[in-house]
Amino acid sequence: MVINVKVQCIYYSASRTTQRILDKVAEGTGMMVLPAVDITNPKTRKTFDGKMDADLVIVGSAVYEGSIPFIAMEPFLKLEGKGKWAVPVGVYGNRSAEAYISELSKLLRDREFKIIAGAQFVAQHSYNHDALAKAGAIGRPDEADLELAHSLGGKIAEKMVDPVEADIEGKPLKFGDKYKNRSEWVGERLKKMIMGPTYNADKCIQCNECVEACPIEAVDPSTYATDEDTCIKCMACIKVCPTDAKTVKFPPMVSQFMNGWGQERKEPMLYL
Ligand SMILES: Cc1cc2nc3c(=O)[nH]c(=O)nc-3n(C[C@H](O)[C@H](O)[C@H](O)COP(=O)(O)O)c2cc1C
Ligand code: SF4
Ligand code: SF4
Repeated sequence: MVINVKVQCIYYSASRTTQRILDKVAEGTGMMVLPAVDITNPKTRKTFDGKMDADLVIVGSAVYEGSIPFIAMEPFLKLEGKGKWAVPVGVYGNRSAEAYISELSKLLRDREFKIIAGAQFVAQHSYNHDALAKAGAIGRPDEADLELAHSLGGKIAEKMVDPVEADIEGKPLKFGDKYKNRSEWVGERLKKMIMGPTYNADKCIQCNECVEACPIEAVDPSTYATDEDTCIKCMACIKVCPTDAKTVKFPPMVSQFMNGWGQERKEPMLYL
């Protein structure tokens, strides 16, 4: 166990699987865990100045279209590494994380962090919904995923005793130069493919959960309707709605395509 080293997470996690995994990694280090910076919250994104208080920073988000969600890009690009240690972590929905881990690793190195480790975890796909698609990784992260996340924290703590940068030669952590270009188009394509959630006023109990869960303030706080132009199709409002008043319709072709992602169990990857 390392003494006098503090750890802190920063994450974007609309449906909270990334948060659960990163918190577990932080807990597994056995270090003092500082309060996380949750950039899912629009107010936090606006006020975040890029400074992290801890010596070791765990940085992660959901994977959107194989890349860093554009909504997380602005706060990530503000991060000030100043030689601190970082752990990039991507959480994807059993389809593919594509270049995510390379891109986040490169972004953090550009921000003057040193990479001590990295990881890619699998979690239930945001688009998994009873009425829609059996998209990937139902029920994940499961016990095995969370145990692995915890043990990754332990391994990082061991490395922090006498820290050296992760050997990135030949590993995906080495690449990712294109992260800036990708962020420009990711999201726009989705907006055209899928309509945002619809709302059934008869089922609504006005609990406000959808307003609070929306990472981009696309739910009208008085009518609970979705602003189609703002909505980024993260499905957080559907996940939190206790009465199924919120729902979304995918074109049959999209549902069919998504069903395929649940077929094969993919395992997390650790880079140390
Ligand atoms: C807009 C959007 C795009 C996504 N793109 C991918 C993808 O390219 N590959 C994949 O495996 N999962 C993809 N997912 C699924 C999420 O990465 C996955 O469900 C993740 O666990 C969500 O994290 P969160 O619970 O922290 O929001 C996408 C989800 C959304 C909402
Ligand atoms: S309104 Fe759109 S962006 Fe907001 S939580 Fe719902 S799906 Fe996500
Ligand atoms: S979460 Fe559901 S029930 Fe609650 S305010 Fe939103 S639509 Fe209504």
